[in-house]
Amino acid sequence: MKFFIDTANIEEIKTAVAMGVLDGVTTNPSLAAREAAPYKEILGEICRIVPGPVSAEVLSTDAKGMLAEAEELVKIADNVVIKIPTIAEGLVAIKALAEDGIKVNATLVFSSMQALLVAKAGAAYVSPFVGRLDDISTDGMQLIEDIITIYHQYNFNTEVLVASVRHPMHVQQAALMGADVVTMPFKVIDQLIKHPLTDIGLEKFIADYKKAGKN
Ligand code: E4P
Repeated sequence: MKFFIDTANIEEIKTAVAMGVLDGVTTNPSLAAREAAPYKEILGEICRIVPGPVSAEVLSTDAKGMLAEAEELVKIADNVVIKIPTIAEGLVAIKALAEDGIKVNATLVFSSMQALLVAKAGAAYVSPFVGRLDDISTDGMQLIEDIITIYHQYNFNTEVLVASVRHPMHVQQAALMGADVVTMPFKVIDQLIKHPLTDIGLEKFIADYKKAGKN
């Protein structure tokens, strides 16, 4: 399973790269708004740090505008993936970009039928937002299972990218279900490595060694 980080923060990305676990990055306008530098500048730097796919989101809500934005965004680097919202105009843009060989990440997916449509239109990635579904008392991970079943049934190549991840259980469930990618905030990557028994065990090893008079 591929690990993407869901952030536009350069320091977090550098730390995750150094940990050796990062396969790509997803950004969105809300994440970019938290950073001081302009979005395109940040994307350029991220693409230099991470060799894997870097999702850059368009802001237009009509296909023409989305395609015009995509044309500028793909100039940033070869590993830019265009993030398109899952609306009717988005499908038109996904189809056109896919025909031009440009990879698209269909974002803001909340139903298996939206996922089926973006796969038919040619999206390289589908991003179901599990945390936001959980927030409204709907089982986000059930949606992942449904999409995986449907995609396998018809041999779609679209990769299932679990998004809006809130905690390690989302990541574990995604791995058990065989999701292709999980994108998560840095906080969740950090939580995945932590276990209290590891910390207790480590402390004891060091204390025992010192007690025996060794340094
Ligand atoms: C995915 O690509 C989105 O950027 C992201 O996962 C949204 O997550 P949120 O619901 O925590 O904002």
